[in-house]
Amino acid sequence: MADPINTEKTPDGAAATTGFTTPACSPCDETQPPDCCMVIFGASGDLVRRKLMPALYKLFRCNLLPKGFFVIGAARTAMTDDSFRAETEASLRAAGDFDEGLWAEFSKSLFYRSVTYADHSSYSGIKGALDELAPGRSNGNCVFYLATPPAVYAEISRGIIYSGLRGSGWSRLIIEKPFGSDLKSALALNSELYTNYNEDQIYRIDHYLGKETVQNILMLRFANAIFEPLWNRRYIDHVQISAAETLGVEKRSGYYEQAGVLRDMFQNHMLQVMCLAAMEPPSVYESELVRDERVKVLRALRPFNGDDINDHLVIGQYGEGAIDGSYVRDYRREEGVAQKSQTPTFAAMKLYVDNWRWQGVPFYLRSGKRMKKRFTQVTIQFKGVPHSLFRRALPGEPGPNALILRMQPDERVQLKFHTKSPGGRVCLRDVVMDFPYTLDYMGVTLDAYERLLLDCMLGDKMLFVRSDGMALSWSFLTTVLNLIEERTEHSPKLYKYTAGSYGPAEAETLIQKDGRDWVDYGEDDA
Ligand code: BG6
Repeated sequence: MADPINTEKTPDGAAATTGFTTPACSPCDETQPPDCCMVIFGASGDLVRRKLMPALYKLFRCNLLPKGFFVIGAARTAMTDDSFRAETEASLRAAGDFDEGLWAEFSKSLFYRSVTYADHSSYSGIKGALDELAPGRSNGNCVFYLATPPAVYAEISRGIIYSGLRGSGWSRLIIEKPFGSDLKSALALNSELYTNYNEDQIYRIDHYLGKETVQNILMLRFANAIFEPLWNRRYIDHVQISAAETLGVEKRSGYYEQAGVLRDMFQNHMLQVMCLAAMEPPSVYESELVRDERVKVLRALRPFNGDDINDHLVIGQYGEGAIDGSYVRDYRREEGVAQKSQTPTFAAMKLYVDNWRWQGVPFYLRSGKRMKKRFTQVTIQFKGVPHSLFRRALPGEPGPNALILRMQPDERVQLKFHTKSPGGRVCLRDVVMDFPYTLDYMGVTLDAYERLLLDCMLGDKMLFVRSDGMALSWSFLTTVLNLIEERTEHSPKLYKYTAGSYGPAEAETLIQKDGRDWVDYGEDDA
């Protein structure tokens, strides 16, 4: 008979007792992809150094790359295989967890060719390397990763075809965000890609979908019988999704000045997380069915209109302030930012999903740079009790229950409820039932990019954004962007907020005028 209590050790050595007998998965359960290679365009860039190469190195360490796997880095910068390897080595060392022996092996699979994206004859270096390396190693299968500025996505997608980089097996194209800058440009890019690729070959990245705790939203909702009956307008008062960052614009002002927080965080990450919190259960946990359900949420979003925009949206830009005791300068004084920049670095939004389950339940979304703490979380705020038995003994109503899904930094699920305080006859206190996400799990976890690279090699598109989802989220947001960027008297005002705060006071008002409050980072209970 199975042991009813699972008593594995937690990473800090304490015995954990979850009481579940469900077998834990480990990366050993991950599938190694079929033979393939990867050509990464934009290989001299920051994303490749900070995210993609460390992700590939980790997959290599976990034995999750196919045997003959190799990478051809390609970019405008002139570099040799050796200098590309040296750059990669430096960034892996800086990231820590570096193993000399493994690196010696892994580095042999890295190559570099320079290319001028608009000049298709310059792709011959990549073609030559593929012809030389692919036989016996990749079975003609190749992932092409576009980690370049978006302006050259279409050009490279054509270059791959015209210079014959596609092999005899499958070809897949990973496109980094932003996929377009509004509905029109996103649709134009899509049609351009469709001239040479079909939807099945296009992998639109939203790295939030690759985060463990974001994937966990569906597991929590649909692998447990206790939440789903409550997950609707009868029991949920509202939902909050917050993604607060302490980072500022860093060295990305060129991009960020054009994008702002709505394109950078809402069009993709925030709306995708919301889809997971709001979607219906698919009949099977299978890529297209899950993607269908995510898309249905976007289709049900109530569009904003010009008249009530200020009741639904607050935008802000950070001014100077302090984070963790260090001075932080005003956004407009960041390098490369216009002195009179109108780019929002913060937004708070109230949304409605017009369907049976969610009618009348507001979703409050909030994201900003240079905020007090880094945290991303979904809060399901339940309704209060219908009738308070304790009204004679208590000064007020017991507050509502909340389920908190903290995505980062300290991943956990928390349920807030009330219990009797020992002592006085009628004395309630608020308590938190807390599940740290790694409890009972000793194995290695894959981070977002590791997960997504692996899934693409495996041909699993569940965690990638499909074209209809991409178009719907742009369609929803383009109305908002137009209202902001047309700068008429109806346009939302840009409020200044102090770096190191939780955004402008007007964002508090947005939710407070509905009689609610933002749930901030649980500093006391984490
Ligand atoms: C990126 C945005 O997509 O997500 C960045 O372009 C943002 O501006 C980042 O900082 C946040 O990701 P994470 O994983 O750090 O929450």
